[in-house]
Amino acid sequence: MSNRKIPLLFAFLVAGAVACGLTVARAASAAAEARACAESAHDEAAAALSADARAPEENEVVHRAMEGLKGNLKKLRGALEAGGKQAEALAAVASMQKHALEAKAGGPSNLAEKPEAERAAHALAYRREIAVLLGELAALEVEVIDGQDQAALARAKDRLITLRDGAHERFQKQ
Ligand code: HEM
Repeated sequence: MSNRKIPLLFAFLVAGAVACGLTVARAASAAAEARACAESAHDEAAAALSADARAPEENEVVHRAMEGLKGNLKKLRGALEAGGKQAEALAAVASMQKHALEAKAGGPSNLAEKPEAERAAHALAYRREIAVLLGELAALEVEVIDGQDQAALARAKDRLITLRDGAHERFQKQ
């Protein structure tokens, strides 16, 4: 190689190294950008997922408890109407009491629809109605034990239904 070509070659090498350095730097910054973007997308997806996951979980407790109340109210009425089925009637009442307690561990499904300042009072009002339901179920149990089937049936058909409908009006999601 001639002496004249050496600086030329050197210049090429330096230019190549600089271009390569720039490409590496750009690639590194692009990778960091992609990582940050992926992380923020992941955070958003996780937040959306957990918001989605929270709501059904809360409702699920009340939903299952309510299905249990409904099924056992039907059994209770059937046993009382048939007559002479005290054991079945008592089992149905006991199951309703258990489901009412499960519902108490949940909360109103329309809580998020209320203004923040009203939520605590609304949750307490829900709890109060469940306590009223438990009181009705205790009175009904006493009637069944005392053999007052007609009084128990009237309570199941009248007061429990009024209580249920009023509570659904106030606490179910619109
Ligand atoms: C004997 C009385 C009751 C019966 C048989 C009953 C039955 C039911 C049934 C069948 C459902 C629909 C299930 C669903 O799709 O979630 C329901 C929903 C609901 N009930 Fe009751 N209920 C009773 C009393 C109450 C009381 C006293 C409260 C409140 C203090 C209440 C609060 C609710 C709420 C908040 C929901 C909506 C649940 C959800 O969003 O999934 N219920 N109930």
